[in-house]
Amino acid sequence: MAGSGTAHLRPAEDALLHAEHIVVEFPVGRSGLKVNAVSDVSLDILEGETLGLVGESGCGKSTTGRAILQLYKPTAGEVKFDGVELTRLGGEDMRKMRRRMQMIFQDPYRGARRSGPRPRAGTGSSAARVLRRAVPAHLDRPCRRHGAEVDPL
Ligand SMILES: Nc1ncnc2c1ncn2[C@@H]1O[C@H](COP(=O)(O)OP(=O)(O)OP(=O)(O)O)[C@@H](O)[C@H]1O
Ligand SMILES: [Mg+2]
Repeated sequence: MAGSGTAHLRPAEDALLHAEHIVVEFPVGRSGLKVNAVSDVSLDILEGETLGLVGESGCGKSTTGRAILQLYKPTAGEVKFDGVELTRLGGEDMRKMRRRMQMIFQDPYRGARRSGPRPRAGTGSSAARVLRRAVPAHLDRPCRRHGAEVDPL
């Protein structure tokens, strides 16, 4: 996921999650080559908001989530959760913080038929449909009411 920039970010102090310029590179054996799994992704989530990452297979959605949770150490970038910079936390502090965070993966079993995007539907309505299934009603009412309220980045 490349070059999302930072123009869409709200003030860091307003956000529950604020991630800037996340880069994740995986080494390819000892070849000196690397896989650029995530290239400069920035995103934020305010309390009560839901963010869905949508994109083709292999574009870096899961790696972005794992890097935010510090399950993979980001090669570069900053991740603040509730005002705490996660990239600098030690193991025990991070474990405590992780209890408050989780990703919701698209269910691969129900995948294309029930929770995945439909080839003929637009991106916005596909994303809204997936979120309506994944998000409990009390957490994100606008998203459940109107697909049109899913904002593309
Ligand atoms: N542990 C790893 N080591 C090396 N490369 C990896 C590793 N994990 C992911 N990659 C590579 O990083 C890129 C992004 O993978 P990622 O799994 O984040 O994509 P995704 O968007 O979640 O895909 P999908 O929709 O299939 O779940 C891919 O090229 C993948 O092959
Ligand atoms: Mg994935």
